[in-house]
Amino acid sequence: MSNPLLDVQGLTKSFGGVIAVSDVNFHLNPGEIVAVIGPNGAGKTTLFNMITGVFPPTSGKIFFQKEEITGKQPFQIANAGITRTFQNLQIFENMTVIENVMTGVHCRLKTGFLTSGFRLPSVRKEEKQAYEIAMHFLEKVGISALAHEDSKVLPYGNQRLLEIARAAASSPKLILLDEPMAGLNPQESAQLVQVIRQMRMEGMTFLFVEHDMETVMGISDRIVVIDYGKKIAEGTPAEIYENEKVIAAYLGTDDEEAI
Ligand SMILES: Nc1ncnc2c1ncn2[C@@H]1O[C@H](COP(=O)(O)OP(=O)(O)OP(=O)(O)O)[C@@H](O)[C@H]1O
Ligand SMILES: [Mg+2]
Repeated sequence: MSNPLLDVQGLTKSFGGVIAVSDVNFHLNPGEIVAVIGPNGAGKTTLFNMITGVFPPTSGKIFFQKEEITGKQPFQIANAGITRTFQNLQIFENMTVIENVMTGVHCRLKTGFLTSGFRLPSVRKEEKQAYEIAMHFLEKVGISALAHEDSKVLPYGNQRLLEIARAAASSPKLILLDEPMAGLNPQESAQLVQVIRQMRMEGMTFLFVEHDMETVMGISDRIVVIDYGKKIAEGTPAEIYENEKVIAAYLGTDDEEAI
C-alpha cells in the first residue's frame, strides 16, 4: 500500500458560532481523482481553504507527503506542491492569457520575472523558459491559439481552462478545483474532463468540488460526501450512488432544508 499524498485528520473549522467543517477525515492516494460533494453551505470550500492555507483549522491536522502542513501560509503550501482554482474565477484581467499562465510558472523558477527590475541575461533566459512552459500548458488545455489575447475578453469556459493551465504550470503534485464545471456548456465540460484525465495519466492528483453529478460519477475514483460540515459517506461512485445517507442529504427525506 502506498503512502497517502494528502491526509486530513479531524479537520474542524468554526466561524464564531457556526461549525462549517466538523471532524473531517479523508486521504488521497497519489494519482487519484477524488470528488468532494455536498449541498450548498456544507463546508466544501472551507475544507479547501484550510488545505491551501487561506485560514488555519480550528482543530485537526493536514499532512502532505507525510509532512504536516497545518496552518502554513498559502505560499508555503504552494511551494510544497498544492495549487488550486477558485469557485469564483480568479484570473489577472489586465494580463494576456500567456502572462497569466507565466505567473504560475514563475512559482517554480528561481528569478521572479515579475519582480526583477533588471533585464539581466539570466532573467531574459528564464523569461523565455517561463514563456515556453506556459505555452506548453496552454496547448495542453487547448487554448494556445488565444495566448496573446487579453484574458478578460475570453469566453468564460476558456477563462476556466486558463485558470487550470495556470495552476498546472507550477508543476504541483496536487490540484484542488472548486466547482470547475460551473458555468461551462456541455462541450466545454467534456473538454475539461478530458484535460483532467490526461493530466492524471501524467501523474497529477486531483481533489475537486463539483455539483454536476454526471461529471462526478464519470471521473472520480472515490467520492467524499459532506453535509452540515460532517463527512457522511465516502466510497466509489457506485457505492455513493446507492448510499441512503447521501440520497437523504440530496433529496431531503430527513431534512426539509437539504437540497
Ligand atoms: N470566511 C467565513 N466567515 C464566516 N463564515 C463562513 C466563512 N466561509 C464560510 N463560512 C460559512 O461556513 C459554511 C460553509 O460554507 P462553504 O463556503 O464552505 O460551503 P460550500 O460547501 O462550499 O457551499 P457551496 O456549495 O455553496 O459553495 C457556511 O455556513 C458559510 O456561511
Ligand atoms: Mg463552495
